[in-house]
Parts: sequence; C-alpha cells; structure tokens
Amino acid sequence: TEQDLERRFQARVDAEEKIEPKDWMPAAYRKTLIRQISQHAHSEVVGMQPEGNWITRAPSLRRKAVLLAKVQDEAGHGLYLYSAAETLGTTREELVEALHRGKAKYSSIFNYPTLTWADIGAVGWLVDGAAIINQVALQRTSYGPYARAMIRICKEESFHQRQGYEIMLALAKGSAQQKAMAQDALNRFWWPSLMMFGPNDDESPNSAQSMKWKIKRKSNDQLRQEFVDQTVPQIEVLGLELPDPKLRWNEARGHYDFGAIDWEEFYRVIKGNGPCNRQRLQHHIKAERDGDWVREAMRAYEDKRRGREAA
Ligand code: ACO
Repeated sequence: TEQDLERRFQARVDAEEKIEPKDWMPAAYRKTLIRQISQHAHSEVVGMQPEGNWITRAPSLRRKAVLLAKVQDEAGHGLYLYSAAETLGTTREELVEALHRGKAKYSSIFNYPTLTWADIGAVGWLVDGAAIINQVALQRTSYGPYARAMIRICKEESFHQRQGYEIMLALAKGSAQQKAMAQDALNRFWWPSLMMFGPNDDESPNSAQSMKWKIKRKSNDQLRQEFVDQTVPQIEVLGLELPDPKLRWNEARGHYDFGAIDWEEFYRVIKGNGPCNRQRLQHHIKAERDGDWVREAMRAYEDKRRGREAA
C-alpha cells in the first residue's frame, strides 16, 4: 500500500541512502524538490545579470577575464540544476515558463543593484560565500542528482568567493576613496545576504518536512549563523567597519550575536517588489525571445534532415 511505500521510503532516507530518479518517492517529495531545485537553477541564471552588468566596465583585462569566467560558471550551474530537476519528470521549458509567469521564485539577493565595482567584490565574497554555506550542506541532500550537482558547484563556487574577497582586499587596502567604496558595498549587501538563508526557522513553512526528508540538512537559522561566524573575522582582516552595531562575539553561545533582520523588506522582495525585480524578469524574458530564432533554426534543420533520411 501507499503507506508501506512511504514507510520504506523514509527508512531509506533515515539510513542515508540516496534516492534516485527511478525510485518510488512520495508525490510531495517530488514536488518540493522540483520547487527548490528550479528556484535554485533560476537563481544561478538570474544571478548572472547583476554581475554581467560590470563585465564591460571591469577595471583591468585581468579582472574582466576573471569575471567573464565566473559569470559563465553560473550559467553552467544553472544547467546542472535544470538537468537535476528534469530527472523528476519536468522539462526546462516548463520551469522557465513558470519563472516568466511569476509562479517560480529565484533568490531575493539578485533583486538588488550592483552600483559600483566594489559591489562585484561584495557579491563574490558575501553572496557566493552565503551560497557555499547553503550548498555544502546540500551536498548531503537525499536526492542523488541534486547532491552530485552540488559537489561540482561547490568547487567552482569557492573560486568565486575568493575572487570576490580579493577584489575587496585590493579596494580596502587602496586609496581612501576605494576603501569607502568597499565599505559602502559591504553595508548594502550585508543584510540582503543574511536574508538569502530564508525566514527564521519558526516562520519557515517548508523546513520541518524538508528536514525530515533530508532534502535540507541544516536549518535556515543554523546556516545563517555559520555565515555570520565565518564572515566577521574576514571583515576584520579587511579592516572595514562592521555593518551591524549589534554584531558581537557571545562567549556563552560560542557564536556572534547580530541585530534584527528586516523581514518586511524580505517579503516585499520575494513578492516581486524589490529594487530590480521587474528589470531582472524583463531581461530574462527578452533574452529568451531573442534566442527564439536559434531554436527555430534547429527545429527546421532537424525536420530537413529527417525528410532527407525518409526519402
Ligand atoms: N529568496 C527567495 N525566496 C526565498 C528565500 C530567498 N532568499 N528564502 C526563502 N524563500 C521562499 C521559499 O522558496 C518559500 O517560498 P515557496 O514555498 O513559494 O517556494 C518561502 O520563502 C518560505 O521559505 P522556507 O519555508 O524556508 O523555504 P525552503 O525550505 O525552500 O528554504 C532555501 C529556502 C533555504 C532558500 C532553500 O530553498 C534552499 O536551500 N535552496 C537552495 C539554495 C538556493 O536556492 N540558492 C540560490 C541562491 S545562491 C546562488 O545562486 C549563487
């Protein structure tokens, strides 16, 4: 019966066995995975926009080459993730259509603008830094194709994080103006980076079930705290001021305390009303339309080839 199947499924998950595409799985497990993996894939691809914004304006040929490679990597991450989602019986076209209709989300962080070159440093350092913390945990997620995609992505992501930190280091040790630019980027990206981990655990509707199914291996708050603990010493190395006056080492907890997150801002952004939501979606839709002729040409070629074979 269905109940026996579910019990057996949960026992496999509890025994740390990976679930593979052709294995039986509860419909809700499949649905949750498609939601999370597609949101993750869309994030990788939409995330190319704020960084792509600076490719032509990178301050040197070396910086341009590095940024170009990094942005291309993000497209690759999107492809691994769309492929992982497709193993669950959905198509990439369906997933992209859901994004365009505003039915599928992507990470809140990519709705903020990159105003200066220092923002490219802050995005690599903080945004990719936060992404790694989340994704290292997901290397142990229960669904095999997702876990394997994460292993590869994490390797590339750690290069991204270091290139961002290196930009920040150059600016923080540079002129007073450069240092101010780095500080401003840190101040603007700090809170949105903390929001990347999602709502607090007691406000997170999906967490309990996703933890039970081992889709998520650590909670939103656990991961956020890891990020804060890892990042504060890095801010100190840069010699920048802390972006939150409440950031303080708590000896008893063995962690840094931090101030209150503006959850109203978070919900405003994920409901489509952040600073760049419309621009990001419009750009994605336009890029899709601009590529239509390539897909049409491929189809026409394929039809012609089939016709020739049949003749
Ligand atoms: N941005 C946009 N939406 C978010 C965010 C965020 N930062 N955090 C949470 N949400 C959404 C959830 O998707 C969910 O909405 P939905 O049910 O309509 O999908 C709602 O807020 C409530 O959140 P949770 O119940 O906590 O949702 P979930 O269990 O899915 O946890 C999390 C959210 C932590 C983001 C999880 O989905 C995850 O780990 N995803 C994979 C990582 C990822 O997507 N990274 C992309 C950014 S990094 C990069 O691309 C470089």
